[in-house]
Amino acid sequence: MPRLNSPAELEGLRQEILSRRDPDKPVIAICAGTGCLALGADKVIAAFKEEIKKQGLEAQVDIRETGCPGFCEKGTIVVIYPEGIYYLQVKPEDVPEIVSETIKSKRVIDRLVYTDPSTGEKAILESEIPFYKNQKRLLIGENIKIDPRNIDDYLAIGGYGALGKALFEMTPEQVLEEVKRADLRGRGGGGFSAGRKWQSTRDAPDEPKYVIVNCDEGDPGAFMDRALMEGNPHSVIEGLIIGAYAIGSHEGFIYVRQEYPLAVENVGIAIKQAEEYGLLGSNILGSGFDFTIKVHRGAGAFVSGESSALMTAIEGRVGEPRPKYIRTAIKGIWDQPSNLNNVETWANVPLIIENGADWYNSIGTEGSKGTKIFSLVGKVNNTGLVEVPMGVTLRDIIFDIGGGVPEGKRFKAVQTGGPSGGCIPEQYLDSPVDFDELSKLGSMMGSGGMIVMDEDTCMVDVARYFIDFLCDESCGKCIPCREGLKRMREILNRIVGGEGRESDIELLGQVSLVMARASLCALGTSAPNPVLTTMRYFADEYRAHIEQKRCLAFVCKKLVSYYIDPSRCQACRICLRDCPADAISGGKNQIHVIDQAKCTKCGTCFDVCPSRFQAVNRLSGEPVPASLQTGERVLARAKK
Ligand SMILES: Cc1cc2nc3c(=O)[nH]c(=O)nc-3n(C[C@H](O)[C@H](O)[C@H](O)COP(=O)(O)O)c2cc1C
Ligand code: FES
Repeated sequence: MPRLNSPAELEGLRQEILSRRDPDKPVIAICAGTGCLALGADKVIAAFKEEIKKQGLEAQVDIRETGCPGFCEKGTIVVIYPEGIYYLQVKPEDVPEIVSETIKSKRVIDRLVYTDPSTGEKAILESEIPFYKNQKRLLIGENIKIDPRNIDDYLAIGGYGALGKALFEMTPEQVLEEVKRADLRGRGGGGFSAGRKWQSTRDAPDEPKYVIVNCDEGDPGAFMDRALMEGNPHSVIEGLIIGAYAIGSHEGFIYVRQEYPLAVENVGIAIKQAEEYGLLGSNILGSGFDFTIKVHRGAGAFVSGESSALMTAIEGRVGEPRPKYIRTAIKGIWDQPSNLNNVETWANVPLIIENGADWYNSIGTEGSKGTKIFSLVGKVNNTGLVEVPMGVTLRDIIFDIGGGVPEGKRFKAVQTGGPSGGCIPEQYLDSPVDFDELSKLGSMMGSGGMIVMDEDTCMVDVARYFIDFLCDESCGKCIPCREGLKRMREILNRIVGGEGRESDIELLGQVSLVMARASLCALGTSAPNPVLTTMRYFADEYRAHIEQKRCLAFVCKKLVSYYIDPSRCQACRICLRDCPADAISGGKNQIHVIDQAKCTKCGTCFDVCPSRFQAVNRLSGEPVPASLQTGERVLARAKK
């Protein structure tokens, strides 16, 4: 690889790469992100390589293994360029047909393109697919266009142009001013101004100063940072170098959780390739600016994503938070000034430098600029990564992009902000999504987790789930968090177990208050959010559990019973056969009965009873009548 010594040489290389590429040459882009790999993308890739070879097309067709374009629900994703034909759920057995039909004969295979489940309409191009067409994909939109292990792909789309501009056309102060003017807010949780934090580290008197990427991403269900790190690592590296230049740092760390092996691998390759081109290391692009990056693999604890904990881990100690009497921006790693930002925050920086703060300010809302990537999961038709301008509504995201709730069920709530975020009910679906609006609703933006819940979700159980998670993940260093979470878990377990007391609601409120005020780090201070929001918006469910021992969603097993209605049972033996606890008795022509003592409330009988019979019923808040707990009844039709 040639070492580049000026922006002109960088531009020359870019032109050379582009001149080597024929824009009309077919390219088969296959998503090789973790989601698609889990669905068998490696086999699809192998099948394409074999088929192209078999048909003697190696010189005429390129295969590109890319990062995640977001629609993981429909993986493996394959896009055929130059047309941009978007194939979903591709299996190895589809490959020969794609090669002969689409590559050779330029015909679209209907079966593999997106079909609207309600209208049956087909969408061939990315821009036609509802999941994509309502997004603004400034950050993840490039993933399908590049092989993250080939720096030339990033250079071909203009990569490292912003770095050249920053180093040669701007002073560090001007870069800092531009980021401040863009009002870039941290995407990792708190939404703190990136420019102001950079300024603190820059102004801190001590040397050396460090810059760090936070790719710990411990929120259950979240994978925005993984997709960027795996799919477009150079965008994060470029942002980090620009930040380092503005701050006056010459050493950076990329902290990636160990459970992201592909991200660790791809970012390692990216660093090496950037070094070889002279885009990283000493005298970057001949500018005189030196900067190196080390990758630190995190041990996978949620709390280690907290700034002081992460920095302690980089020092080689256990990744637990420490008191921040002086902010980490001023005294961080080894007590040196250390600026930490989230993956997505860094990835925004090249865009801001390239296009200017005014352009960035034109996207988003008054207080939250730019776009935000959400990981849309749970009870929603289109799960995956969604990037939207700040300010779109929850309804836009869940219904227009996410395609609504499956099986015609009713939307109940959406949990935003990760485990210590909050649950937002239906009446706020039209609220704009930005840092401030979500906080007003008692939730938060967090790093972008968005879990959709339908009518079958018990909100007390949801609060219990998140408190349980946080209890396990609390480092235990401070009493409010360690003891508070345990007490909350006890109380919530009591409520979902049918032992709730009248005083429990008040007690939960009191524990929440102490935790929010007195915990050492934001894990503890924000942990009460799932409890407080569910108590605020779903008070009726708490009351039903405590006062009537009733779970309105039939989720809390101790409060639910199943019985078989003798007038509807057809003695078909399906529930009897499928019951994992052998709790159902009855035989041919014998009406079935559930032994309440043996029943584990798994609900299998309810699920498998044919809908035309609907013989299995659920009860909550009242016992199964004694007459339905026994029986030797013979089916009426058998008597005749
Ligand atoms: C318990 C806990 C876990 C956190 N985990 C992450 C994480 O995985 N990724 C992240 O970027 N920020 C995480 N944060 C927020 C960081 O402390 C820090 O605010 C953030 O990395 C700063 O970057 P930003 O300003 O770009 O958002 C976490 C905070 C807490 C309290
Ligand atoms: S991993 Fe392939 S679309 Fe997300």
